[in-house]
Amino acid sequence: MKNILITGGAGFIGSNFVHFMLSKYSNYAIVNFDALTYAGNLENLASIENNPQYRFVKGDICNKDHVISVLRDNSIDTIVHFAAESHVDRSISGPAVFVQTNVVGTQVLLDAAREIGIERFLHVSTDEVYGSLGTTGFFTEESSIRPNSPYSASKASSDMLVMAYHHTFGFPGLVTRCSNNYGPYQFPEKLIPLMITNALNDRSLPVYGDGLNVRDWLYVEDHCSALDVVLHKGTIGDVYNIGGHNEWKNIDIVKLVLKELGKPESLISFVKDRPGHDRRYAIDAVKIKNELGWVPAYQFEVGIKKTIEWYLQNKLWWERITSGEYKKYYAAQYSERE
Ligand code: NAD
Ligand code: TYD
Repeated sequence: MKNILITGGAGFIGSNFVHFMLSKYSNYAIVNFDALTYAGNLENLASIENNPQYRFVKGDICNKDHVISVLRDNSIDTIVHFAAESHVDRSISGPAVFVQTNVVGTQVLLDAAREIGIERFLHVSTDEVYGSLGTTGFFTEESSIRPNSPYSASKASSDMLVMAYHHTFGFPGLVTRCSNNYGPYQFPEKLIPLMITNALNDRSLPVYGDGLNVRDWLYVEDHCSALDVVLHKGTIGDVYNIGGHNEWKNIDIVKLVLKELGKPESLISFVKDRPGHDRRYAIDAVKIKNELGWVPAYQFEVGIKKTIEWYLQNKLWWERITSGEYKKYYAAQYSERE
């Protein structure tokens, strides 16, 4: 492994992963291939833009000719595939782009990678492909695939394509399925940054339904270290769940954010539920822990403090987002919920 293509490296997890890899390895060349959709932001990578180990290429994973030329020009031998449409609410208001990027884009990337011939292809997926849990139990790698949202259905389809290419063509694919991430550079449409930024602006905090839906939160750097381990030590053709056994009800997270910021709970507003809202996600990560020796480093109490501190220190970063196109998105999503 020498030359790594990271797709979607200007997004939340992708940009954290670029930083993680550059600070850990001095012998890899990294090409970040990203279309810069609303979610892609080169400010996330400003501190390393002149690093000789790093190069950015603006491009769409659905454009096979462009992907192939980038793979060839950079002698790429490894791909870590983050690029996706990633927000469930957007997949409800407009599913088409989710199928285009997440399904068609992944298929194009797989074909391009097959044509060139690569050593490893790590497909970054989500626990949401397993559907929803009741009050007990955990998702294992053997759990049924039962996606409920257009987002999770498109991710499940892309997972299946990676596994089918492995089975059919001997393609060197691996799949990871991680629980909800939080941390620096997360686009403010997602729960934790949305609550932090709204609270800082003394805006109401829209909690869907009864607020009792459960998510299993992992600090983004722990996701990066898990991907690093799977990339280097994972068995080709395998699926690895990633999670930190850290379940929280949404309402409790929102109250914690308010407490950390010294803001009143009167800012909380219960709003109309998300259609088809999955009740609970919880990951069994025994396989990656036992087989590959991965352990998360961050306690939630530490990670959430670091995250809040990052949004406090980087107000300009999120104000540039929330003052632009995002305003229209917010009005469309939330005005009909009130
Ligand atoms: P994000 O929305 O923050 O970033 C997605 C990135 O992909 C953006 O930089 C965007 O410009 C780029 N992109 C979108 N369409 C593209 C295209 N056609 N060609 C090239 N680039 C394109 O997403 P994220 O939260 O960082 O998630 C990254 C990956 O991790 C996704 O595949 C997601 O399904 C998966 N995942 C996310 C979470 C989470 O909690 N956020 C958890 C588990 C898995
Ligand atoms: P989100 O960050 O969109 O992640 P996902 O739906 O992929 O798990 O949402 C996390 C949880 O927070 C989910 O149960 C929906 C809920 N939620 C709210 O209650 N209000 C909001 O404004 C948002 C964006 C999410």
